[in-house]
Amino acid sequence: MTTTLTLRRPDDWHLHLRDGAMLRGVVAHSARDFARAIIMPNLVPPVVTGDDAAAYRARIAASLPQGADFTPLMTLYLTEGTDADDVARAHAAGIVRAVKLYPAGATTNSASGVRDFARVQGVLERMADIGLPLLVHGEVTDPDIDIFDRESVFIDRVLAPLRARVPGLRVVMEHVTTREAVDYVRGGGPDLAATITTHHLIINRNAILAGGIRPHYYCLPVAKRETHRLALVEAATSGDPAFFLGTDSAPHADAAKLSPCGCAGIFSAPVTMPCLAHVFEDAGALDRLEAFACLNGPAFYRLPPNDTTITLEKGDPWAPPAMIETGAGPVTVLDPGFPLRWRVTS
Ligand code: NCD
Ligand code: ZN
Repeated sequence: MTTTLTLRRPDDWHLHLRDGAMLRGVVAHSARDFARAIIMPNLVPPVVTGDDAAAYRARIAASLPQGADFTPLMTLYLTEGTDADDVARAHAAGIVRAVKLYPAGATTNSASGVRDFARVQGVLERMADIGLPLLVHGEVTDPDIDIFDRESVFIDRVLAPLRARVPGLRVVMEHVTTREAVDYVRGGGPDLAATITTHHLIINRNAILAGGIRPHYYCLPVAKRETHRLALVEAATSGDPAFFLGTDSAPHADAAKLSPCGCAGIFSAPVTMPCLAHVFEDAGALDRLEAFACLNGPAFYRLPPNDTTITLEKGDPWAPPAMIETGAGPVTVLDPGFPLRWRVTS
């Protein structure tokens, strides 16, 4: 029986760190286990220009605990006014690693997102030329489309036509939640990949709605039926290089979650690695956790894997903190709903 697991240090390819007091409260929880993270740009106002990204990167660096070994990889928020030259400059200077597409209105702080894709065609073509990945929040925003169908409809209506209009564009479909998305990405060739979150490997939609409403399991894209969760587990544990970890750890103060119109987002950074070890062990795939969390992401982003390591040990059940205190208020930590036996020991 495996009780110790040493892996290359993992990276998180989709992370919300926020800003100010919340940033200072949460960043150490990612820096402890992860070497690098792709930092989402959906601040208010969003991170739109290369200068915005450089300034945000400096604020993150200033918020890290002393001695932390953590590199934030910055992204730009694509708007209809984004300047292709600015994007290319920020990429050439090593400031940004990707550009994020939020369809306007799709999720938290997405009001500045894209409505008319013709207006971003030039930026996307430049990104294809320079090999800069587009990270896609893959949900349509049409109110006529049921919230549980918004991802699969997005593939047919938006993503497939967009990729046809911009050949060579490298795309990551972020936080996939459906069998349809897994199937689409699996057959998509080397320029298409997907991140999968911690929580979508663990919960289905019953966790949110059955036996009482549980706002701490509400995120976007919303968790789907169990058949979809099983497709995600199968993809994550398959070793297929198209799938890698993006936690989408998205802290909101409890007061913003526990409200008549609560925010979408699940804070999973403190428990992700123990949760993943549990899920992969249950699937008989502990030997493929390193591919998912430590190797496939760097390969897609054309970066070397980390040469430092992380060790997890399996022992008696332990209880992670139910919440953390931040200067922006308490933030509830993802409760996986099962006892955690794995813990990160070094
Ligand atoms: C994210 C957030 O809170 O910024 N929320 C979420 O439910 N995942 C935004 C996002 O990634 O959609
Ligand atoms: Zn996100």
